[in-house]
Formats: sequence, structure tokens, C-alpha cells
Amino acid sequence: MKNIILTGDRPTGKLHLGHYVGSLKQRVELQNKGDFDEMYVMIADAQALTDNADNPEKIRENIIEVALDYLSVGLDPNKITLFIQSAVPELTEFTFYYMNLVTLSRLERNPTVKSEIKQRGYETSLPMGFLTYPVSQTSDITAFKANIVPVGDDQLPMLEQAREIVRSFNNIYGEVLVEPKAMLSDNEVCKRLPGTDGKAKMSKSIGNCIYLSDSEEVVKQKVMNMYTDPTHLKVEDPGHTENNPVFIYLEALCTDNHFVKYLPEYKNLEELKAHYEKGGLGDMKVKRFLNDVLNDVLNPIRQRRKEYEGKIEEVYKILENGSKKARKKASETLKEAKEAMKINYFEDEALINSHIKKYQK
Ligand code: TRP
Repeated sequence: MKNIILTGDRPTGKLHLGHYVGSLKQRVELQNKGDFDEMYVMIADAQALTDNADNPEKIRENIIEVALDYLSVGLDPNKITLFIQSAVPELTEFTFYYMNLVTLSRLERNPTVKSEIKQRGYETSLPMGFLTYPVSQTSDITAFKANIVPVGDDQLPMLEQAREIVRSFNNIYGEVLVEPKAMLSDNEVCKRLPGTDGKAKMSKSIGNCIYLSDSEEVVKQKVMNMYTDPTHLKVEDPGHTENNPVFIYLEALCTDNHFVKYLPEYKNLEELKAHYEKGGLGDMKVKRFLNDVLNDVLNPIRQRRKEYEGKIEEVYKILENGSKKARKKASETLKEAKEAMKINYFEDEALINSHIKKYQK
């Protein structure tokens, strides 16, 4: 079996550190390992419109932001296919047929969608497109016959939905589609990075994000204002490292080499944590170290972003070429699916001949 990787993001804002440690970093590693046959990364503009129908401008403006973020973290259009969802209309056609394989009550049970409905106040007026986006996401995945989908754990219900649709389709029409599997980050702390305020998740709407495109000055300011342990008032006080976002970020990003470079009086994070927990280590010192680590991670990203910001036309060309390539693959799969569904009337000579016979006098 082929190894085909597909994943994507909604273009509703710039990508942040949570995206980076939760998914982007792993994608770049996958890409560079090269252990796959095809890899696709999609900008999910059509999905973003399912809860932004009244604000297409927001999506339009953020496609380029996400594309720049992708390219600056090191996703390489020579190795993988970067494309825009709406530029592959075959995905919509798949969705129309998949809708017949899902019930309303099944869609209403999706825990991620459920909590998103609450967040958006959709309880009393739910756009159908929003409720059905897991079906459309099934199309995104299956049209490319992707078997590996690197995502955050909030996407597990989408993968479950996709597998059910695939099984149902293959049962009724024959084995055409491939059952996908989620690939989660293997680092526990990376799965859900808290915001700089220590709140559950880094999220644009809360305003607790460090963006990949933030300047050194902005990152420094955000780090210095980060929430830490509220019981750690004086340097001598013993501190807590769990639920402390400064330590969680370090856990996600720092290496022993960062200690050699920026904080040689400690060997590794274990030593730093032990000192903090015992007391005698101030927040400022830890924050300064985190700031150094972040700059170490973000500087190459900033540099690449600057290069691509100087050639926006080329970025659009990359997306256009990628979308063409993606469309080719999706239309091949759609052709196969329609053959299996026996709705390929004009290509079915046996059908036409049987009808000729039926009406022959
Ligand atoms: N739902 C995903 C998110 O919100 C984005 C997405 C759309 C996606 N289609 C996909 C992810 C297909 C993986 C595979 O981040």
C-alpha cells in the first residue's frame, strides 16, 4: 500500500506556536524524512467559510498568511503539494455523495463540532455547512487516498467519521476508498499548548498566542508578561512547574543544547525544574531563557518568511500549481468512485448497449 499523507489548516488567522509544536514541526520532519509516496498540505478555505460565510474577506486575507507560515517553517513545494481546498471542486462533489452515508444524529454526536457549536452560539441557528464539515473533511482526506493524517487530538472525531464513511462506501459500492489514520504528536506537551495566559489552549480569539510571524520585540514582550506560578511570589519561594506555561513551552521546545548555549549553569530542563520547585530561581531568569529558546526556533522561520514576503507572486504560483496537481489526483479518485457507484453513464458502453437492446424493435 502507498503511504499518502494529507493534512491542513483553516485560514482564519496567522499560525502560532501551538500550531508549530502540535503539527507543523512534525510535518516538516515527515517531509524531510521522505518516507511517503505523496504528501499534501491543504489550506482549508471552504471549511473556514462554514462559520465565516458573512466574512469571506477574512478568509481571503489569511490564505496568504497561512501559505507564508507554511513556507517559512520549511514546508517545501518541491517535495510536497501545497494547495487551496476550494480550487479542487471535486471535493465538493465527493461531499454530496458522502452526505447520503451519514445520518443527522451521527453528525450531531461529534464532540468537537458540539463544543464548536457552543463556542459560536450556533445552538439555535446552526448553518448546515458547519454541521456537515466533517463530511467535507472526509472528502479532503479520501479524494487523495490519504492513509496518514497528522492532526491535533481535537481532530480525532473527524477521522473516526471519515473511517465510517469509507467503510460504508466500500461496503456498498466496492473497495475504492482508503481508511485514514490520525497521526498525533508523540510529545504529550505538544498536543495542546496552553496560551501565554496559562489558559487551556493557545487561541486567536482569546489573544494568548505567540505567532510564528511575531517580531523579536513582540515575542519578548509576550514572554515577559506570561502567566507563571501565582504562588511563586519571591525568588526564594518554592515554585510549581506543572500548569506553568513557561515550563510547558520549554518542555515542548528546548533541547540540552539550548542549555549549553544560553544557560550553561544547568545541564537540562530537569535540573532547571528541580531548582524552581525547590525555590531560589526567579521567573525572570526562566523567562529570559525561554525568550532565547524561542528566538532560536523562530529566527530561521522569520528569515525564510522575509524571503517569501518579497516574492508574493511566486507564493501564489506555488499554490496554483499545487492546486492543479491536487485536482488531478482528486479527479482520478472521483472517476473511480463514480464508476463504482455506477453513475458514469457516458463511459458505460454496456449500459448504453443494454438500453439499445431494450428498445430495439
Ligand atoms: N479541521 C481542520 C482544522 O480545523 C482543518 C482540515 C480541513 C483538515 N480538512 C482537513 C485537517 C483534512 C486534516 C485533514 O484544523
